[in-house]
Amino acid sequence: MNILEVKDLCKTYIINKRQNNVLKNVNFSVSEGEMVAIMGPSGSGKSTLLYTVSGMDTLTAGEVKFCGKDIAKLSEKELAGLRLDEMGFIFQQMHMLKNLTVLDNIILPATQSEKANETRKETVQRGHELMRKLGIIDIADNDINEVSGGQLQRACICRSMINNPKMIFADEPTGALNRTSSDEVMAELAKLNSDGTTIMLVTHDVKVAARCTRVMYIVDGNIKGEYNLNRYENESQMRERERALNNWLMEMGW
Ligand SMILES: Nc1ncnc2c1ncn2[C@@H]1O[C@H](COP(=O)(O)OP(=O)(O)O)[C@@H](O)[C@H]1O
Ligand SMILES: [Mg+2]
Repeated sequence: MNILEVKDLCKTYIINKRQNNVLKNVNFSVSEGEMVAIMGPSGSGKSTLLYTVSGMDTLTAGEVKFCGKDIAKLSEKELAGLRLDEMGFIFQQMHMLKNLTVLDNIILPATQSEKANETRKETVQRGHELMRKLGIIDIADNDINEVSGGQLQRACICRSMINNPKMIFADEPTGALNRTSSDEVMAELAKLNSDGTTIMLVTHDVKVAARCTRVMYIVDGNIKGEYNLNRYENESQMRERERALNNWLMEMGW
């Protein structure tokens, strides 16, 4: 089943009366369980694509259906509910609240969801479980500014998962991390994906994209090409996956 269907999506920004057509008739769909990487030159519209298909930003024209629902037809409140309950977000400017602990940031979406009917104790317990899974339980009570970049990024993953979303959107989730942290974060995302969560992420990193099931290459607001990979199974395949993906990316003009 398609979790996301995008038809003739256009996004135009107007600044000082000048039009900037950032997305130009973009068409694609994502089936449940996929892990899709979006690659392409800087400024090609990757972040804009992620924001518009996830309802963070409005579309100029076209249609986006999430779980069969036309997101442009939802009320503000319905859209907020859909985003809170069914989608998870990992963005680079991570919007963690500075006056809350890491744990409280992670469980915030759960306390805001109308879907959840659990006590604070139960929510905290789930938050702790996620933090344990991601190896950051030790920093649960730290302030946000008392943790490393890798820890913060893992906290963001915990937060994106707290409401058990159907799909996670991530904009360069490993962009600010060193190789080791990046590999660890990707291993966690891959695990999530193999447990059934659909993932769509923007990346500049071939190693990150090589773990996905599909790569879409965007140039100047259009999908220039798509590359399908088998499901990632183990590390021994990585070198071959990267090599094949690299070759394809060169053809795309990477
Ligand atoms: N909020 C915005 N307002 C106006 N223009 C924007 C906004 N966000 C992005 N743009 C413009 O859209 C284009 C694509 O940006 P973006 O989607 O961030 O590219 P990418 O993520 O591929 O680097 C750029 O020309 C950028 O200046
Ligand atoms: Mg971007």
